[in-house]
Amino acid sequence: MAMTPAGGIGHQGTLPWHVPSELRHFHRLTTATLDPKKMNAVVMGRTTWNSLPIRPLPNRMNVILSSSAPLTSHPQTGSHVMFMNGLDTALTALAARSDIENTFVIGGAQVYNTALDHPRVTKARVSIVHTDSTCDVFFPLEKAQSCGWGDLIRPDDSVPETTDTYTGIKFTTFERRKSKYTINGEESDGAC
Ligand SMILES: NC(=O)c1ccc[n+]([C@@H]2O[C@H](COP(=O)([O-])OP(=O)(O)OC[C@H]3O[C@@H](n4cnc5c(N)ncnc54)[C@H](OP(=O)(O)O)[C@@H]3O)[C@@H](O)[C@H]2O)c1
Repeated sequence: MAMTPAGGIGHQGTLPWHVPSELRHFHRLTTATLDPKKMNAVVMGRTTWNSLPIRPLPNRMNVILSSSAPLTSHPQTGSHVMFMNGLDTALTALAARSDIENTFVIGGAQVYNTALDHPRVTKARVSIVHTDSTCDVFFPLEKAQSCGWGDLIRPDDSVPETTDTYTGIKFTTFERRKSKYTINGEESDGAC
């Protein structure tokens, strides 16, 4: 996911910024497979799906979550598009498929909120985008912290980082702690 240091991820149904290097990073990360016979899957909410300028996202299995999924006929169904009515149903179905290498939950906020405490979701790939763009949709940072993800945004994230390739974006990977969660400041076992 890409977010501002304050956790902003969306504005008026779309991304709050246009940062081509972050889009390229997202494309590479979600498309690349070790096995050339396999593809990756991207799981997203209906709002995020509707916001995509090009859909489906090419060379990936696009899985769209909607509570009305089984009842709705979508013109864009095809071999690379699936509509499903729950995150657990989607992740379980994808895990059982031998043609899918990696599954990425790509947002938005409602889907992240459910994914944070799903046992199959163990890693977060975060791009911190340093922008003052207005946001009206935010990643649930507080829930993330209480679900064993630690600080998805750290204090040094407020300092823009520049590399040869990217300007003003910091790419980070977080592993979820396996069995301990912090609830009201205290470590405990079990779901958040
Ligand atoms: N910065 C980033 O990395 C990033 C990534 C993705 C999206 N975004 C932004 O985030 C915003 C959209 O986020 P959002 O929170 O408003 O919407 P969203 O999570 O994309 O989609 C919400 C919809 O998805 C369906 N849904 C969500 N969770 C579900 C579940 N567990 N089971 C079944 N259906 C489920 C529901 O559809 P129904 O109403 O049909 O039931 C719900 O109304 C946009 O601005 C987008 O551009 C940013």
